[in-house]
Amino acid sequence: MTGDDGSTADLVAWDRSAPVYAATVGGADDSFRRRFAPFLDRWLPGPFDVVLCHMVLMDVPTLDRLLADVAVRLSEEGVLVASILHPAFFGQQPAQDHERHRRVTGYLGHEERWVETFGGHRHYHRPLSWYVGRLRDAGLAVVDLDEPPSLPARDVPESAWTEHERWFASIPTMLSFAALRVRAG
Ligand SMILES: C[S@@+](CC[C@H](N)C(=O)[O-])C[C@H]1O[C@@H](n2cnc3c(N)ncnc32)[C@H](O)[C@@H]1O
Repeated sequence: MTGDDGSTADLVAWDRSAPVYAATVGGADDSFRRRFAPFLDRWLPGPFDVVLCHMVLMDVPTLDRLLADVAVRLSEEGVLVASILHPAFFGQQPAQDHERHRRVTGYLGHEERWVETFGGHRHYHRPLSWYVGRLRDAGLAVVDLDEPPSLPARDVPESAWTEHERWFASIPTMLSFAALRVRAG
């Protein structure tokens, strides 16, 4: 990856799905020096300044090994940045009786759900406190958390949003967080 000042950085992309990986690499800028790393142990010794994990953690059944592997591969100042479907609101279906709301059918309990997107796959619902605990167990501490608004699929300025789009944007369906390694002492 080439920065504005001409500096370069190595980028390693990883996804177990060959079509997803091919689509990503095919669409990426050629200034990225890319390597496909199918096996974490063999190909990704690190250290990494940034590990970016976009919309994957909620699809992985167990995270302890993955988070521990990431933690030991982060550089001294390295950061894990991850986005997931917001466990408080994803799957809580929009409903309307006297007013618009989301119907909460459960939150604290872990659930395995089938989701039709991305060719159909399993989704593992776990509450936010669980994620923070597993990160802590791996030696990672959350230092930032963002809950972006759920924007309309159509590209229109906010002034043209419908009342429903305005309401929908007020409840985030995704979140992202940043975590750093916790240092002993
Ligand atoms: C919701 S998609 C997100 C894809 C891509 N990161 C993006 O943001 O567009 C989830 C991705 O996680 C990948 N995935 C799920 N479990 C994985 C695993 N154990 N190792 C590597 N990739 C995995 C799937 O192949 C799928 O492409």
